[in-house]
Order: sequence, then C-alpha cells, then structure tokens
Amino acid sequence: MDSIAIQGGARLNGTIPVSGAKNSALKLMAASILTDQPLRLTNMPRLADTKFLGRLLRELGVEVAENGHTEVGGGEQETLFHAARITSTFAPYDLVRQMRASFNVLGPLLARTGEARVSLPGGCTIGARPVDLHLQALTAMGVEIELDEGYVIARAPKGLKGAEIEFPFVSVGATEHALLAAVLADGTTVLKKAAREPEIGDLARCLVAMGAKVEGIDTDELVITGVGSLGGATWSVIPDRIEMGSYAVAAAMAGGEVRLTRGRADLIQALTDKMVEAGVEVTPTDDGVIVKRDPARRLKAVNVATEVYPGFATDLQAQFMALMTTADGESVIHENIFENRFMHAPELGRLGADIHVHAGEAVVKGVEVLHGAQVMATDLRASVSLVIAGLVAEGETTVGRVYHLDRGFERLEEKLGACGAQIRRIKGEDHDH
Ligand code: UD1
Repeated sequence: MDSIAIQGGARLNGTIPVSGAKNSALKLMAASILTDQPLRLTNMPRLADTKFLGRLLRELGVEVAENGHTEVGGGEQETLFHAARITSTFAPYDLVRQMRASFNVLGPLLARTGEARVSLPGGCTIGARPVDLHLQALTAMGVEIELDEGYVIARAPKGLKGAEIEFPFVSVGATEHALLAAVLADGTTVLKKAAREPEIGDLARCLVAMGAKVEGIDTDELVITGVGSLGGATWSVIPDRIEMGSYAVAAAMAGGEVRLTRGRADLIQALTDKMVEAGVEVTPTDDGVIVKRDPARRLKAVNVATEVYPGFATDLQAQFMALMTTADGESVIHENIFENRFMHAPELGRLGADIHVHAGEAVVKGVEVLHGAQVMATDLRASVSLVIAGLVAEGETTVGRVYHLDRGFERLEEKLGACGAQIRRIKGEDHDH
C-alpha cells in the first residue's frame, strides 16, 4: 500500500487547476446506460473511483474509451461511454462494494431494460449509510424489489411509472437515483425535498442535453416528464468543489498565495466565508479563487456546522478541522449530515491537535504547533485533512492507506508539489487498491 510523506513548513505559492467533480462524473457515467447513443464526458477526472465504475459499466456491456492527455496544468481528458447494447444487468458485490456510487446503476438499468440485480453498496465507513430512500423512490415508480443475500433484485416488467415522491429528508444519492430512473418513466415524476447539490444540477442538465425533460433544476422540487428514449451528448463535468475547497484550505494552512483555476468560486462560498472570518484573504476570479495568507499571523478560531448545499459541505469538514487545529482559540465543529464522521480527529491528535468529540460535535482547541507523525487515512476526505495538517507539522508526517486519497484526488502530490509543498509518494508493495 502506498503512503504519502510530507515535510512540514513549506509555503504554497503557485497555481492549482481544479479537476472535474468526482461526485458528478460518477452519476453522469451511470446516465450513459440510459441511451444506445454515445455519451462523451469531457473534463473527466482520472480517479480510482471513476476507474471502478468504468469497470462495472464494461461488465454491463458499455464501451468505455478514454481519450485526451493528462497534465498537471489541466489536460483535456475525456471519456466516451457507449451502451449500444446492455449485455448484463448484474452488478456483483465485488465491484459495488469498492465504491458506493456504483449502486446508482440500478435505476438506469431498470429504466433501460426493466430488470437488474445489484449488490447493496459498501463505501466509506462514515456512519450508517443505508439506501432505503433509493429503494422507496423506485418502489413508488412501480418497481418490484426483493432483497436476497445482499443483493437487490428489481423488476419493472411494465416499465417505470411517473410518481410523486416526497423524501423524508434530503439525500443527494436518492435524488440522483430517482432522477436517473424518472427520465425514461411513463408520465410525470415530482421529486419533493430534492437535494440541490451542484452535481445534481450538472446531471439534470446533461440529461436535458440528451433529450430528457426536467424542470426545477437547482431547486428542491424537480419535475421530470418521462420521454420514450434519450440520445447521445457531449458534456463537460462541473468543477470539483470539494477538491477546490481542499486546496483552498491547504493554501490557508501553509500560508502563501495560491490561485485555483478551472473552478468556480460560487460553489465553495460557504467555505470561503468561514475562511475569511478566520482571517484568510480570498479573492474570487473568473475561473476560481486566489487564496492568500500571511503565515506570520495566526488564524482566528471559528465555528462551523455542516449542512446540505448551499451550506457548509460535510465533505469539507475534516479539512476545515485540520485548519482549526492551529488557529487561535476554540472552534466548535458540528456534523449534521453523517454520524461518526470524525475518524480523522484522533489521527489529527497524533500530530498534537487538541480535539474532543462528543455527540456529533468536535471541539478543537488551537495549538501553537503540530508535530509530524505517522498517521492513517480512514476515509476519502479525512485523508486529505491529514495531508493538510502535515503541511505545517514540524518534521515529517507520513499518511498511510492513501488508496482512500486516490479515490477522489487526482495527482494530489503533483498539484501540491508544483506549489512548493515538500510531498512525495512512497510506493508500497501491495497494489491491490
Ligand atoms: C453524497 C456524496 C458524498 C457526500 C454526501 C453528502 C457522492 C458519490 N457522494 O453521498 O460525497 O458526503 O452526498 O453531501 O455523490 N440516507 C439514508 N437513506 C438513504 C440515503 C441516505 O438514510 O437511502 C442518509 C445517509 O445515511 C446520510 C444522509 O442521508 O446520513 C445524507 O446522505 P446522502 O445525501 O444520500 O449522501 P450520499 O448520496 O451517499
């Protein structure tokens, strides 16, 4: 297993291009199942997660072809997905367990072929993450569902029917899943209390480009009028606001001046508001932000609470906690989306951070210095928070189990290294992940 070693203390100065959003790319890839025409996705991130899903799509009969060149200054990466014929409707445990978003092939398979057998998902260990809302939405659309030995066996012999669905609480995955299924359903589907994350808007707009009828995009009520078939499209994946936010926090932590390009400032407003409150200079630009911080001045501790979009993203909570470990004062961090999403707190503690977790809340008392140590990545976003802390920890920090990081961050060590970070990957023997 690979690990990443960081020598703390270097300032960050330079430019970091933001990649396409993992969480959007995965759902757009699933949308390729809905049509027998080619779907060309540009600005595609090259990640372990997109590779996993590509493998699953190939198993189902989708042709997947990667094109373009990759470079750290922002290459032109695209992937062509062509589901001319679906040859299998079976998504095995081995492929779904590695990445939760694979579960979202269920709806499109049902919409295209009327049947599917998909394993229940695994994914990051951040609290209980059921898929009950996904299944309830599909059931409301006339799907017969049976659970058998960890598999969802679903049938819609007469096709999917439009339905009015009100989610009991906001779920990104369930909203996207219902949307993916509804575009080919017979009649109109209304999704109430829909999630409004930008990646859902991206998916909905791509589906419209493919010929779907979706109204209320970016609001909490989506109205989808089913169509008989969808065509192909070329679609550019929205910038990754979580990657962008992570580098913004990294720059604020290390000090210096970093320009984030190929992004969108509005997507990380809730984060940058808090960074400004803490004493970081953030200037929006046409395609991103400039983050500037004088390392001689300590940041001020501020409180955050994670919320659904446009609130503070749960996927940026760990990174912000890392930033607060050396701020002046006490910061209270409240996690409202996932229970048990504080596994990074004890790891940050190994670097000398003073954090107490109790019932969905972490209290971070800022310390003057962190000290390098060996730490372990526990999930995707937690692992980048350890890298961020390592940027200022005295001496060397080694982050183990970086396969978590590779799931969602494209060429992280190159992007940070280009700005002056002393960071390197240590190749391990086990290449399983
Ligand atoms: C997506 C993102 C993830 C992000 C999260 C919240 C992807 C691939 N992942 O995850 O990075 O952290 O949104 O912004 O896009 N829930 C249920 N039943 C369900 C579905 C969800 O109880 O059927 C619960 C979850 O356990 C959680 C909450 O609802 O407590 C929100 O989860 P959800 O918004 O669905 O997150 P994901 O789509 O899994």
